[in-house]
Amino acid sequence: MTAPGPRLPGSVTRADLLPSPRQMIRYLDRYVEGQARAKRDLTNAVYNHYLGLAWRDSYADQATPFGRQHILFLGPTGSGKSHLVMTLARWLGVPLAFTSAKSLVEVGYVGQQVDTVLRTLLRKTGGNVQAAQRGIVFIDEVDKLRTNHGAERDVSGEGVQNSLLTFLDGRPTTVKFDDTTHREIDTSQILFIFAGAFVGLADIVRRRLGRGARTIGFGGTTPVVPGAGTAAHAGDPAADPAALDDDAALARLEPADLERFGFIPEFIGRFAVVSRLRALSAEEYVRVLSGTEEGLLRKKARQFALNGIRLEFAPEALLTLARRAEGAGTGVRGMESLVQRALEDVEWRLPDLAAEGVAGVQITEAVVASGAPPEFLVAEGDAAEETPATQLRRRALGYLNIENPDPDAAIEVLSPEQRRHLRFQREVERRTQAPRTRRKRAADSRRPELPFPGVGPE
Ligand SMILES: Nc1ncnc2c1ncn2[C@@H]1O[C@H](COP(=O)(O)OP(=O)(O)OP(=O)(O)O)[C@@H](O)[C@H]1O
Ligand SMILES: [Mg+2]
Repeated sequence: MTAPGPRLPGSVTRADLLPSPRQMIRYLDRYVEGQARAKRDLTNAVYNHYLGLAWRDSYADQATPFGRQHILFLGPTGSGKSHLVMTLARWLGVPLAFTSAKSLVEVGYVGQQVDTVLRTLLRKTGGNVQAAQRGIVFIDEVDKLRTNHGAERDVSGEGVQNSLLTFLDGRPTTVKFDDTTHREIDTSQILFIFAGAFVGLADIVRRRLGRGARTIGFGGTTPVVPGAGTAAHAGDPAADPAALDDDAALARLEPADLERFGFIPEFIGRFAVVSRLRALSAEEYVRVLSGTEEGLLRKKARQFALNGIRLEFAPEALLTLARRAEGAGTGVRGMESLVQRALEDVEWRLPDLAAEGVAGVQITEAVVASGAPPEFLVAEGDAAEETPATQLRRRALGYLNIENPDPDAAIEVLSPEQRRHLRFQREVERRTQAPRTRRKRAADSRRPELPFPGVGPE
């Protein structure tokens, strides 16, 4: 195949090309808040990876002009490492195998192979080797592979690091697909992404900087600052390494720091990109929860609306929760559980509140700050008889096998004989009214009106 000729203006459309990093970022921005640097690093690596695969298919006799693109993500828990990769893989429509390095260490103990990861990928594609080879393998909690836990040396972690080298180098591997079949996988086409929180790594960097070690950056991506032979970068406002925050310290990460953390040099050396995610700010937490369709607040609002109740969170209340989550350092998951807790006393009572005429619930600052009860907005006039939830409840009752769904109802105090009599009467009623009932049933099984626009797949 020949190299493509000069590009004529208008001769290609954007829609028939591998998305550019910018296009990938535009997509990611809809689902992943902040993390501009990680988005740039990830999309650039993914772009070059697939460009490289197309190069191989086009010019099989020539080596790819750029090497492999494996990525290592560092970032605090809940900052979006997994979310970022899953979101992109979903959009690109490539198989993604998701594993935790922790489980690899555990299987290492019982003598199993690290290639369970590849088996996961292969299963994702139903055994289609070609498709699996163009997939992405994401290995989370890679920091659990560290070899030194305090004074102890962890050989299993080191063993797993060593076995992963085979994949990172792109050697072919035979993978057990099921009990009877094995498949040969060419790992040289698979993109490997590793991620971990690396708690304590920033301290290692700060300590090294404090000793006055020279900073040369990681993989040559951070330029050497001329004259940076002292504690920190020349002209750096934070001349005191101990005063650097985690993100600033990790910006000065060197391979030697990862070695000190517990990685073998061969393993570290295989990464083309080492990228960082920051802990999100309180404002970003708020946007994560309320900004997208997938955000917890929209989900909660939909759940309330189903019951005919509007949910409102006062902006100050959200910000208070976000600041709390920010302080706790538990990431978006921590923020979500705070919101969940703020709603827990209301949520379970939604059907009853609706029946009592409550049309809206307001979570004010006082609710989250001092545990005050939420404010209820009462509907003008009578409570709505039917909410979308009422219709669903009617249908859902058919899935159960319950004699008396309302334990407050009188049937509870009837003797067995009276109950039998009642059932008999109902049966007679049912038979005599059968045609009407059937019509009514048909009407009931219609899709209930949604109180909000449907949320479907894109
Ligand atoms: N930057 C973000 N934008 C939008 N949502 C986010 C972001 N970060 C996290 N989330 C949400 O929080 C959840 C947890 O995030 P995720 O699993 O990606 O964290 P992580 O960085 O992989 O953490 P861990 O180290 O604990 O695995 C995600 O499913 C997502 O819903
Ligand atoms: Mg994760």
